[in-house]
Amino acid sequence: MTIQNAELLEKIRQQFESAPYPNMPLELSPQGDANLLYANNFITPFYLRNQQVAKSPDLAILDVGCGTGYKTLILAAANPGAEILGIDLSAKSIQLAQERLRFHGFAAAQFQVLSLLDLDQLDRQFDYINCDEVLYLLPDLEQALKMLRSKLKPQGILRGNLHSLYQRYHYFRAQELFTALGLMQGNPQQPEIEIVLETMRELSDDVPLKQQTWSAKQAVEDPQDYVLMNYLFHGDQGYTIPDLFAALRDAELEFICMTNQRSWELARLFQNPQNLPSFWQENLPKLSLEEQLQLFELIAPIHRLLDFWVGQAHQTPAWKTPASWADPDWETARVTLHPQLQTPAIKTAITDAIRQQQQFDLSRYFTAAAPHQVRIMLSPYVLAGLLPLWDAPQQFPALLKRILKIYACDPITLKPTNPQRASQELRNTLINLEKYLYVLLTQKPK
Ligand SMILES: C[S@@+](CC[C@H](N)C(=O)[O-])C[C@H]1O[C@@H](n2cnc3c(N)ncnc32)[C@H](O)[C@@H]1O
Repeated sequence: MTIQNAELLEKIRQQFESAPYPNMPLELSPQGDANLLYANNFITPFYLRNQQVAKSPDLAILDVGCGTGYKTLILAAANPGAEILGIDLSAKSIQLAQERLRFHGFAAAQFQVLSLLDLDQLDRQFDYINCDEVLYLLPDLEQALKMLRSKLKPQGILRGNLHSLYQRYHYFRAQELFTALGLMQGNPQQPEIEIVLETMRELSDDVPLKQQTWSAKQAVEDPQDYVLMNYLFHGDQGYTIPDLFAALRDAELEFICMTNQRSWELARLFQNPQNLPSFWQENLPKLSLEEQLQLFELIAPIHRLLDFWVGQAHQTPAWKTPASWADPDWETARVTLHPQLQTPAIKTAITDAIRQQQQFDLSRYFTAAAPHQVRIMLSPYVLAGLLPLWDAPQQFPALLKRILKIYACDPITLKPTNPQRASQELRNTLINLEKYLYVLLTQKPK
């Protein structure tokens, strides 16, 4: 490591040692927040990559740069029974993370003061590595990714993220300003934080830097975190989609998808996604995922993080089934409810809706996979048909049989229900639910 990089690493360590992140109350629990748990459940990215439901009773999870452990707690809650190890540069953060996990009943979680760059000291590999809000601080992204890759099991999955150069452009300018003013020479503390707060408050409202960066609300809610994580952030760097993909290729990592993939859909940026301008209609299907993401960001740099799941390149399992459910073998298809929907509270709400013959908005409980405007409304008949999923995974034919029993005849003509039509409707429902990962559809490996 160069002297410059070693100095930077030390500055980052000092910054988090004096202001551990995130500054979340110890008692705050993610239990019951299906969206948070969904995104941190190993089943989600494993399915997205392999179209299989992961069976990992001995799941080993590494949380790199765990900070004060709130994300580690989410990982523990989302993956019951998993073995958890959190590492961080800052000893103070590690101590707080340990206290947090103990407080919430995860006393077996392990923590260690260790840099990502020293991961080779760990003599083992993991099924899932979470590296949240850390990679953009590393001076050499490729080196960091290679190190993380070396700690992944062959079928393991890494979640990481980078700050978007375009979305955070104005904050990077603000960081340059406060560096030029000498506030970043050492470890920024209360006096430096006060100077930033006073400067930003007192700038005229129509000054570009204030218009483009300042959030009075965040400055009131948590002034220290807000200033340190935005205006005075040692090591903070921005990346573009091509930067990300170049680094992944270099580190021999294979892109799976963005963790919030549905909110990166290019077509949704147009007024009428179903009827795109002819140039776009013709060319969009020819674009790679990387190209689509790049164009999305150039048009709409709305995501602060380029937040991704990747696996090791050249490790796609031989039993991978086609990603598209357009033409599967439904006779052997198995339907599994996403585990984060499998809660007694949701089951009760669904049973009530069936009894009261009401439509049910599934997206009320679980929006993480779907953009906000997408509503998943299910009729009481469909809900009744799908109810056994709350007890166990089901074969498609069993679900169809149940639907035909519930819906034996047309309520208007009283003619017996057409099994082909019922089957088609059930498939369409399942395909739509699978699109947002409410259900997972799997087939036996061929
Ligand atoms: C912005 S915080 C993120 C904390 C946590 N992952 C989260 O998302 O809430 C960054 C954390 O990464 C740690 N960190 C920074 N560089 C690191 C490195 N090279 N190795 C290990 N931890 C590092 C910092 O000490 C800090 O706790």
